[in-house]
Formats: sequence, C-alpha cells, structure tokens
Amino acid sequence: MARKILIQLDCDPQPSTFDSIVAVDAGAEVLLRHGNVTPDAAVPLVHGAMFTRGGADLAETAIFIGGSDVAAAEAVYERVRQTFFGPVRVSVLLDPAGANTTASAAVVAAGRHLPLGDPTAAGALRAVVLGGTGPVGQRVARLLARKGVAVTVASRSLSRAEEVCGRIAAAVPAGRLQPLQAEGTIVAGTAMATAIASADLIVAAGAAGVTLLHTAARGLASKTRVLIDLNAVPPAGIEGIAATDKARQDGRAIVYGALGVGGTKMKIHRAAIGRLFESTDAALDAEELLAIGEAL
Ligand SMILES: NC(=O)c1ccc[n+]([C@@H]2O[C@H](COP(=O)([O-])OP(=O)(O)OC[C@H]3O[C@@H](n4cnc5c(N)ncnc54)[C@H](OP(=O)(O)O)[C@@H]3O)[C@@H](O)[C@H]2O)c1
Repeated sequence: MARKILIQLDCDPQPSTFDSIVAVDAGAEVLLRHGNVTPDAAVPLVHGAMFTRGGADLAETAIFIGGSDVAAAEAVYERVRQTFFGPVRVSVLLDPAGANTTASAAVVAAGRHLPLGDPTAAGALRAVVLGGTGPVGQRVARLLARKGVAVTVASRSLSRAEEVCGRIAAAVPAGRLQPLQAEGTIVAGTAMATAIASADLIVAAGAAGVTLLHTAARGLASKTRVLIDLNAVPPAGIEGIAATDKARQDGRAIVYGALGVGGTKMKIHRAAIGRLFESTDAALDAEELLAIGEAL
C-alpha cells in the first residue's frame, strides 16, 4: 500500500506547524509542506499530485490548504479544484486560520441544544453573530443561514456587515441575513438590543481579547438558549463565560467557551484529514466539515 502523503499548501511564508502536527496525528505519513503558495504557484504542485500515482494509490495523496489570509487560501482552493480534470484528482481540505473547523465546531455545539437538523424548526430560530465579519464569524453565519436560521451579522461597521451578508446571500440564496451595526454599550430600545432580545443563539466570534457582550447586555438576552464565545484570550468575548465552559447551564442558557468548543474542532480537523484518504474526490469546505462534525 502506498504511503499517505499530504501536500500542505499554505499562503503564509512558513507553513503552519499546527496544521502539520494535526495532519500527522490524523494519519498522514508524509508531509510535503509549501509556503507562500499562490493560485499560480499551486498549479504545478497539483500536477505533481495528479500524475504520479494511479489506481487506488491516488487516494493516498491529498491536499490541505491553509494560512492566515482566508481570501488568499480560498483563491488557492478554487484554482486547485479547477486544475483537476476527469478522474485525475485528489481530495482537498480547506481550513485557513482554522476558520472552517472552528465555525463548524461552534455550529455542532449549538445543534446539541437547538433543532438545527429540522428545517422547519430551524426556520423559526434567530441567531446573532457578534464579530460576524471575521473568518470564523462569516462561516458561522453561512452555516447557520444554510440551516434556515435567521442570522444577524454584527460588526462595528454597517458596510462591512452588509458586505458579508451579501457574500453569504450569494452562496445561500434562501438565507435570511440581517446586517447590524454593533454598539459598544448596548442599551434597551436600539436595533442591537432588539436583536439580542430575540436571539435563540448568540455566537461571539470577535477578535482575541475583545469583549463584545457585557453582563448588562446579556441581561437583554432573555430568550437566548445557547451562547458561544470563541475567544480564548482574556477578557472573555461574552462576559461571564469561561474559556473552558462546555454545555454549562448558566441561568436559562447553555454556554460554551472557546476551549469547550475546541475539543470538537480538533476532532473535526482530524476526522477530515482521515476522510481525505478515503477517496480522490472529497472537497472539504465549512459545510462538509460541519457534516463530519455532526456525524462524530
Ligand atoms: N478555538 C479555536 O481553535 C479558534 C480557532 C480560530 C479562531 N479562534 C478565535 O475565534 C475568534 C474569531 O476568529 P477570527 O480569526 O474570525 O477573528 P478576527 O478576524 O481577528 O476578528 C473577528 C472580528 O472581530 C471584530 N473586531 C476586531 N477588533 C475588534 C475590537 N477591538 N473591538 C470590537 N470588535 C473587533 C472585527 O469585526 P468588525 O471590524 O467588522 O467589527 C473582526 O472582523 C477569535 O477570538 C479567535 O481567537 C478560535
């Protein structure tokens, strides 16, 4: 049997050691690590993967695309997929900045307590994604919109929130998305307060070490059943949630912190690497990672 080779295409100058270690732990036997990868630079690297092994051995070669610049990694992902033709292809996983695995783990956590698997019930749900313009927040919003949840994308900039909603709507035409200008201090009666008060789910996906929902504003979230804070760096993204919280009952809500979600994120990442070597045609973006997470 041919050895399992993972070709790591990273848009940063140095390929991520985190992604390399997870790959080895998940069963990759040989890592070919490339940094500074652009769409053009990816093409000959992909040809090398396509034209060396044949038959069943082709499934023992796969590609991981990462890096801190999500847009750059997405451009590489598109070019890699365009480079394949017919059956001459290998499986590909896209997880720049851990955004896809983190977002899918957050939605898996929410789905343990909310009926996200039932389209009718999910259609009655409302979610607010704070810090919704970042790599992780955008994907949380996209995954929830695809489930039928009405999603409010909050940002300090209304135009950025609008841009993100537009991008998600292009990918999810039936998605119900609402851009919202976030307020530093949330007071009753404002659009932000109304969104918080009507949310079944609140996900904080803001930058590390930034509090987006203070205790007073949390008091407005009387209907909220699940709160998830993805920020692991103090202070918390949602005041009162510890990074280690995992399905902790806090008043009427269930709360998760970043580390509480992180275990599922790691499981999804490892399972996705394993999935790459099962066929030659897997293309694993956030939606496929969510499906893997839901099946764990
Ligand atoms: N558990 C894990 O394994 C894992 C993996 C990856 C990421 N994370 C965490 O998930 C969170 C989201 O990651 P990310 O990469 O998407 O985050 P990010 O791009 O750094 O920030 C997300 C959004 O936060 C807002 N923001 C930035 N600085 C702010 C400030 N000073 N005040 C208020 N809002 C601010 C920005 O939105 P606007 O400018 O539009 O307001 C930005 O788009 C981070 O806390 C990150 O550490 C966890």
